[in-house]
Amino acid sequence: MKYIKQELTEGILTITIQRPEALNALSAEVLRELEEVLDSLSKSSEHKVVLITGDGKAFVAGADIASMSTYNEKAALEFSQLGHRVFEKLENADYISIALVNGFSLGGGLELALACDIRYASTKAKLGLPEVSLGLIPGFGGTQRLARLIGVGAASEWVYSGEMFTAEQAKSFGVVNQVYEPEDLLKEGLRLAASINSRGRLALMTAKKTIRSGLNHTLSEGLRLEEQKFSSLFGKDESKEGMGAFLEKRKPQF
Ligand code: HXC
Repeated sequence: MKYIKQELTEGILTITIQRPEALNALSAEVLRELEEVLDSLSKSSEHKVVLITGDGKAFVAGADIASMSTYNEKAALEFSQLGHRVFEKLENADYISIALVNGFSLGGGLELALACDIRYASTKAKLGLPEVSLGLIPGFGGTQRLARLIGVGAASEWVYSGEMFTAEQAKSFGVVNQVYEPEDLLKEGLRLAASINSRGRLALMTAKKTIRSGLNHTLSEGLRLEEQKFSSLFGKDESKEGMGAFLEKRKPQF
């Protein structure tokens, strides 16, 4: 692979977008490689948790502006659809994804992070949706996922101003979960990943599906869904082991 590196550290997979000469900007080629990696991860079902980061001083500085500047309306539609397809695969994947936002996370780069389940950022990160400064709007999910994550009012400030925010500001908006010094970001990501990895896969995936599908329902429908998903775990090996281990005062083996 030319643009994506995969690395195992203490059994945890890190996917690194690697196109540092363009601050890891997402061209169609980069997106297709990412899709290939995501497809092979879904096939193997080997990982309960995956870290995603960028090489060098950027997480991802956006969609590739040089390519986009040549697009007509049809090409732009196909590009937006490609990004949506790949990011929806990530969002709906049967593992928990954690974005480690190591640097610039702009436009399509923030939209990639928003498709992940959890975001940790370095104090060096700068985040934003600068598309309006290019005469564009977010096209890889930013208008939809950011508003759902932090609310319409806060998302409107990000989208309409096109400004870059610091990691601490992003945390205060709820865009990122935690902020760490650059040298601690991977270590903290691995710590969180190890914690998730120690839990039962079925419980994790059921929780993820319940949270994600709940967003498409009313509260009352979401609560009915939770009743069904909660009860579906009873009688399963995993919940027998989890509750049994608690009662026997030992660690569960998942
Ligand atoms: C293509 C990019 C790029 C991008 C940076 N580069 N971002 N190339 N697409 N999004 C390239 C630069 O052209 C430059 O190449 C090299 O990376 C280093 O960037 P510099 O600008 O020299 O670095 P610096 O001065 O540190 O500034 C960093 C930056 C700036 C603030 C992040 O690069 C920047 O503003 N980039 C664009 C950010 C942006 O607008 N993103 C949103 C894109 S629209 P050379 O060859 O000159 O060294 C989008 C839409 C998504 O994402 C939806 C699509 C459907």
